Amino acid sequence: MGEILLKMVTLFFVSYLVDMSTIETIIRQQYDQMAQRYDQRWSNYISNTLNFLQPWAEIAPTDKVLDVACGTGEFERLILSENSAQHIVGVDLSERMLTIAQQKLQAYPNVTFVQASAATLPFSDRSFDVIVSANAFHYFENPWTALSEMKRVLKPNGKIVILDWCKDYFFCRLCDLLLKVNDPAYQQCYTQAEFHYFLTTSGFEITRTTKIRLGLVWGLMGTTVSPNKPLG
Ligand SMILES: C[S@@+](CC[C@H](N)C(=O)[O-])C[C@H]1O[C@@H](n2cnc3c(N)ncnc32)[C@H](O)[C@@H]1O
Repeated sequence: MGEILLKMVTLFFVSYLVDMSTIETIIRQQYDQMAQRYDQRWSNYISNTLNFLQPWAEIAPTDKVLDVACGTGEFERLILSENSAQHIVGVDLSERMLTIAQQKLQAYPNVTFVQASAATLPFSDRSFDVIVSANAFHYFENPWTALSEMKRVLKPNGKIVILDWCKDYFFCRLCDLLLKVNDPAYQQCYTQAEFHYFLTTSGFEITRTTKIRLGLVWGLMGTTVSPNKPLG
């Protein structure tokens, strides 16, 4: 009986890991293919979203920053244009997106890029003051794991700032429906209420939040959270 139970539990975890790595492989392949064209193809979207995020995130000059799913390093470029000494680490699944980020920012020894998944961040506990993630949460197959990894590598008084699509807007709702059918890399986006519920039940306190419409179609939400302090 015990042996059967152990086999079932092992099977569950093996199939879970295989599934996760399949989706991450699809994401990696998609962005590896798109990397050379990404900045140009999405230039309006990138500059609208990241120009909003940069002041909204309220990053102090001495903060050590982790950017989860940093893509081609555009957020890093923006931060460095304000403070060339900022310490930043960017992680992403796609090697080719990271190559472009590295080429752009090779003049800055205080910036490093690492190929890794949001689900397994290769950093020690309590390493960063601020963690940002822009335009990527809708790809995270297991957002709980990503959040718990972010929480692990965040310093005790740190904060996490997430910018992503908001399903309260019609266009994002439509994208959510269509991409779930057409794009195996896409997972889901949330309404603001769903996202807040998800964050608070994952052990975070929401310290700042907003919704913004960018251009005619895109609707995003920005959310800043801190881990709940243990009671007592
Ligand atoms: C739309 S791009 C956004 C890039 C950048 N944050 C920006 O706003 O320009 C999404 C990025 O998320 C990365 N990504 C998706 N899922 C990921 C995961 N689980 N772990 C790390 N990176 C991931 C992709 O490789 C891609 O570079």
